[in-house]
Amino acid sequence: MTQRTKFGVFGYPIQHSLSPIMQNAAFQEKGMTAFEYQAYEVQPNDLKNAILKAQQNGFLGINLTIPHKEKALDFDFIQADSFAKKIGAANTLLISDEKIEAFNTDAYGALSALEYEQIQTKNKKILIIGAGGASRSISFLFGEQGNPLKIINRTAEKAECLAADISKKTGNKNVCGGGFQTAWDDIREADIIIQTTELGMGKYKNVSVFDLCSVQKGTTEDIEKTKDDCIQNYLRKETVVFDIVYHPSETKFLKEARLNGCQTINGTMMLVFQGALAFEIWTKEKPNIDVMKESVLSALQKKK
Ligand code: ATR
Repeated sequence: MTQRTKFGVFGYPIQHSLSPIMQNAAFQEKGMTAFEYQAYEVQPNDLKNAILKAQQNGFLGINLTIPHKEKALDFDFIQADSFAKKIGAANTLLISDEKIEAFNTDAYGALSALEYEQIQTKNKKILIIGAGGASRSISFLFGEQGNPLKIINRTAEKAECLAADISKKTGNKNVCGGGFQTAWDDIREADIIIQTTELGMGKYKNVSVFDLCSVQKGTTEDIEKTKDDCIQNYLRKETVVFDIVYHPSETKFLKEARLNGCQTINGTMMLVFQGALAFEIWTKEKPNIDVMKESVLSALQKKK
């Protein structure tokens, strides 16, 4: 039997990943000194080779990030668990000599981040912004949990397709998708709003979800006025607003929601909890969440 002590995250690009810092901090805290986690730049057409090599070279666990999460499920030597199969994406591989198993811990990360803030999600009406990979995992989890779900996306058809797929695979009939035309009404209806796109980060730093809603109404001149009025009129103070972005720690969207009186949550704890479940899948032990959180926060502090 191969001695397995190596871990890694495969992505392209990968240099910004916080997983090595976070997982190594968790290993250290547990005294698992033989374990070592590194980031590896793996090109999309090299993924299969990279995974097989990792199995030969003593890896116990791998995280997959953009753009590899869906592709991994195409390989016949990987056995995905039923939830990862339903979603069609995996972010965690558990490797042994005999097999490679795949799991998706992203959605669990989102749910745990809400629970960490004492937010009850059962039966709550959830509005998801975006219909990409991140949205897919989160939407599936709440779809499976039976929540009434609305998914809105810049490209409406993508949200419609995702909603139809969730309904079909989970049996939840209360899932629908669409564009931003009815966004303000969707916002009023929602108990929890989850933002899953890259709005608010990188080149979209100065764009919030509310900007997209406002564009549908009025002229460019009264966007700001219309937007503030709409936030006040449509966003209920009881609505919890969760943005999965963690850098910056407060996106423009979260700030606007906070100033409206809403409880807001950023993506830091989702990152921590998806990593914590991966840690548990690999080691069969629960990591120290505070240690992981602190390692992420101090790494983010240095990025400023
Ligand atoms: P991820 O895996 O991070 O979710 P993705 O699969 O590329 O990334 O999905 C990106 C999501 O962000 C999509 O919902 C995308 O909307 P489209 O499907 O219309 O492309 C959304 N998105 C990205 N840039 C956006 C922008 N400028 N305005 C609105 N939505 C945007």
